[in-house]
Amino acid sequence: MASLSLLPLLLLTTCTVRTQGKRRQVYFREEFEDGDGWTKRWVQSKHQSDYGQFQLASGKFYQDKERDKGLQTTEDAKFYALSTRFKPFSNENETLVVQFSVKHEQGIDCGGGYVKLFPAALNQEDMHSESQYYIMFGPDICGFGNNRLQVILSHKGKYHENNKTLKCRINKDTHLYTLILRPNATYEVKIDNQKVTSGGLEDDWDFLPPKKIKDPYARKPRKWDERQQIEDPDDKKPEDWEDSEFIPDPDAKKPDDWNEAMDGVWEGPLIPNVKYMGEWKPRIIDNPNYQGEWIHPEIDNPKYRPDPTIGHYHNISVLGLDLWQVKSGSIFDNFLLTNDEEFAEEVGNMTWGLRKDVEQQWRELYEEMEKQKEAEETKKKREKERARQEDVWGLDEEDEEDAEEDDEEEAEGSPKQEGSAERASLDQKEAHIDQKDEL
Ligand SMILES: *[C@@H]1O[C@H](CO)[C@@H](O)[C@H](O)[C@H]1NC(C)=O
Ligand SMILES: *[C@@H]1O[C@H](CO)[C@@H](O)[C@H](O)[C@H]1NC(C)=O
Ligand SMILES: *[C@@H]1O[C@H](CO)[C@@H](O)[C@H](O)[C@H]1NC(C)=O
Ligand SMILES: *[C@@H]1O[C@H](CO)[C@@H](O)[C@H](O)[C@H]1NC(C)=O
Ligand SMILES: *[C@@H]1O[C@H](CO)[C@@H](O)[C@H](O)[C@H]1NC(C)=O
Repeated sequence: MASLSLLPLLLLTTCTVRTQGKRRQVYFREEFEDGDGWTKRWVQSKHQSDYGQFQLASGKFYQDKERDKGLQTTEDAKFYALSTRFKPFSNENETLVVQFSVKHEQGIDCGGGYVKLFPAALNQEDMHSESQYYIMFGPDICGFGNNRLQVILSHKGKYHENNKTLKCRINKDTHLYTLILRPNATYEVKIDNQKVTSGGLEDDWDFLPPKKIKDPYARKPRKWDERQQIEDPDDKKPEDWEDSEFIPDPDAKKPDDWNEAMDGVWEGPLIPNVKYMGEWKPRIIDNPNYQGEWIHPEIDNPKYRPDPTIGHYHNISVLGLDLWQVKSGSIFDNFLLTNDEEFAEEVGNMTWGLRKDVEQQWRELYEEMEKQKEAEETKKKREKERARQEDVWGLDEEDEEDAEEDDEEEAEGSPKQEGSAERASLDQKEAHIDQKDEL
């Protein structure tokens, strides 16, 4: 364990390395390895007086209690606005990799799990949800099925959402999110070091008007035959086709007292026609004149101008957590901004990759124990309720009140005790996992 945990630290110190002629740049990296040190690097916005507070924590389940610490949201139904500054850089001629991990261990219902990159001009003390940013990237969750992975890129002062809808992970484990923007205007998005999508910036965002448009002067010829099948014009109804569903009853007789002058012409009652064959329809044949679907011809869009500056940002200098969360508890960690895709993948392996299995095992144990605890509590409550109902018949009113008070005290005192018992029990299991891990 000890030797493994040193590796990321060694990597951290090698900030500029030449790889294939390109200089590796690590513009920003934050892994919260120095206790309270982060409080000097991160700035709390004062734009609002009631922003939620972040704390440094590894949460309920993790692989390494110290190393897996990150920034955790601590207050429900709050806005959060915290940011950190680094030396300004431009990605004009460089790949930009934005990477971080986030763990929604609270079981997130509605809230942001994304980061924003800002220009150097941002006043961090005044950062808020309307502050102009360059890039917003990460999970944005609200409601069932609405778990988007946002990639919003600004261009000439306007924000553009990605056209392809990407889904983020909503389970309670830590996940690694990676956005890669390349200088040739291509991009890639990865979750847990696996590609989830890639393509061209121009194709998947509405930065520019479309390259081609429908020719406004082209019209479908009036005689264009788009009918794939038609009724056979040569098919004729057979002469003996019975297509009357009802016929006059041959046995009906005009009543003797029928007075045509007063009652009108007598019409006998109708009965179902036993020979009825249904409505006759000509058979359907392939249309010999079918011309295919008419395709509107396209022309080059006169409004389209290629723009080589798409996805280029200058003086990128602040990374911010500017979010709203209903249920708090998300933990952000392992922030990385670099120009080196492979390095980012390696860092992902050394951080998220190293913790994921143990963390997941522990999360499963934790959930199992929560379930057991709940089942026990339900059982206890039911027993208590039964005991109370039996008592009612044997107690006078005064005694009954006393009994209720006792119950309340017990209810207030009990969660704490059970909490610490659960923690002790978890610690035992943790030790167990650690042992397994070392084998
Ligand atoms: C990117 O490269 C072009 C062409 O070499 C150069 O003019 C420009 O200054 C470079 N941009 C940055 C931010 O280095
Ligand atoms: C863009 O750059 C990447 C990485 O250098 C390369 O793999 C890809 O083929 C390039 N795409 C285009 C369309 O130039
Ligand atoms: C993105 O989606 C919008 C709305 O569906 C569509 O009009 C537009 O053509 C799409 N843009 C690209 C680049 O696919
Ligand atoms: C970047 O910041 C420097 C110094 O603050 C400024 O001189 C320069 O104009 C900025 N560049 C851009 C493209 O915003
Ligand atoms: C990261 O880990 C995966 C899975 O073990 C491996 O395939 C990949 O080569 C690693 N990447 C780097 C850059 O080390």
